[in-house]
Amino acid sequence: MKQPVSIKKPEGKLGVLLPGMGAVATTFIAGSLLARKGLGEPIGALTQMGTIRLGKRTDNRSPLIKDFLKLPGLDDLVFGGWDIFPENAYETARHAEVLSKEHADLVKDELSAIKPMSAAFFPEFVKRLNGTNVKKGPTKKDIADQVEEDIKSFIKANGVSRAVAVWCGSTEIYIEPSEVHSSLEAFEKGLERNDPGISGSQIYAYACLKQGVPYANGAPNLTVDMPAMWELARERQVPISGKDFKTGQTLMKTILAPGLKARMLGLRGWFSTNILGNRDGEVLDDPESFKTKEVSKLGVLEEILQPKLYPKLYGDIYHKVRIEYYPPRGDAKEGWDNLDIYGWLGYPMQIKVDFLCRDSILAAPIVLDLAILMDLASRAGFSGIQEWLSFYFKSPMHAPGLYPEHDLFIQSMKLKNTMRWMMNEELITHLGNEYYD
Ligand SMILES: NC(=O)c1ccc[n+]([C@@H]2O[C@H](COP(=O)([O-])OP(=O)(O)OC[C@H]3O[C@@H](n4cnc5c(N)ncnc54)[C@H](O)[C@@H]3O)[C@@H](O)[C@H]2O)c1
Repeated sequence: MKQPVSIKKPEGKLGVLLPGMGAVATTFIAGSLLARKGLGEPIGALTQMGTIRLGKRTDNRSPLIKDFLKLPGLDDLVFGGWDIFPENAYETARHAEVLSKEHADLVKDELSAIKPMSAAFFPEFVKRLNGTNVKKGPTKKDIADQVEEDIKSFIKANGVSRAVAVWCGSTEIYIEPSEVHSSLEAFEKGLERNDPGISGSQIYAYACLKQGVPYANGAPNLTVDMPAMWELARERQVPISGKDFKTGQTLMKTILAPGLKARMLGLRGWFSTNILGNRDGEVLDDPESFKTKEVSKLGVLEEILQPKLYPKLYGDIYHKVRIEYYPPRGDAKEGWDNLDIYGWLGYPMQIKVDFLCRDSILAAPIVLDLAILMDLASRAGFSGIQEWLSFYFKSPMHAPGLYPEHDLFIQSMKLKNTMRWMMNEELITHLGNEYYD
């Protein structure tokens, strides 16, 4: 990444395109509309609530991040997207039951006007879903062309000056990268001959990158983490990021694990289980979709605890993650964690966490931050993988050959230092003590 000489001003409106308009997407849109009207606070969104310290502690300079970076306001956002179900955003929000009827009704007109475009969807990638609002075409290339046309029409019809995309669609089945993902040429040939390794999410990513639209992947599926997309992102100079929004249980894990490690406390086992009853839970009830999620969730501890460096503390951890579909809970998920830890002389102890969270309430601010920061990245001339946005992801994408950073506190420092660096401000290392310097 090169330090930007200048950052383009966020002139005009910013289109936020959401492939997959279910619970998370509609909670994000409704919340942004409510916050815009002063009818709710955008809690959890760093771009709306966060400040950033600049210079020495004695300088007392801590502006709001949105002012420091001159970010677009909520009024500047225009929402759109795709789904396999034709219901408008109000109907979907009511069906998802994340927000109360009273709350959703405050922005009913705006939500009702947002109707999903027909989806690029292949049922073999999401086995539990069956919708009618789906594109048809002889080849996957033809479907990708239709998505490109959708993007162009959306930009034109809404008079937006630029757009970003954040995948909020279902988790697709687990697939390993194969020959078709190995280069842009192979991928484009694969589109022509309907290669079975090309999923719906990959088609959106391909179409967005071709149209210069930055793409963030909120689910764990294989989408922009493959050489074909890296090549396209480089060629078109477009930022990409992923994957899998870091919310509930993994958020807790990446808060707790760095703390245990900082104190050199040992860990023998970590068992995590969840119950959730929304559509996401239904999709994850399919073992092949769950596998994608499981891989995304399991990497976290290994990378944070570095068992090779600390074999006596973390060399023999039993880590297990379960997700159980339990309809009565809807979006109000409950996540239990049992940690078997040990301290001085190896004496065992336990920690139990019971997080009664709300999945989409935790994910919505991440969608907002990613939309605004991916746009910033694009205006700053950044392209390819945006590691500084690892803060938002369970399974952060990273440059080939490097390891991902999972520790929430290191991620937060990296995010804020990148913001300072972009704006030519001094980086903060927390070294030294300005009073005694
Ligand atoms: N809520 C969280 O805390 C959280 C955290 C991390 C990741 N995620 C991921 O975010 C995604 C969205 O979660 P959700 O709770 O909104 O799920 P949801 O089931 O309510 O919404 C997903 C929507 O995507 C649609 N869809 C599926 N495939 C599509 C395609 N090819 N094109 C267009 N639409 C498609 C579905 O019809 C559905 O409406 C899921 O993949 C989930 O795993 C959520």
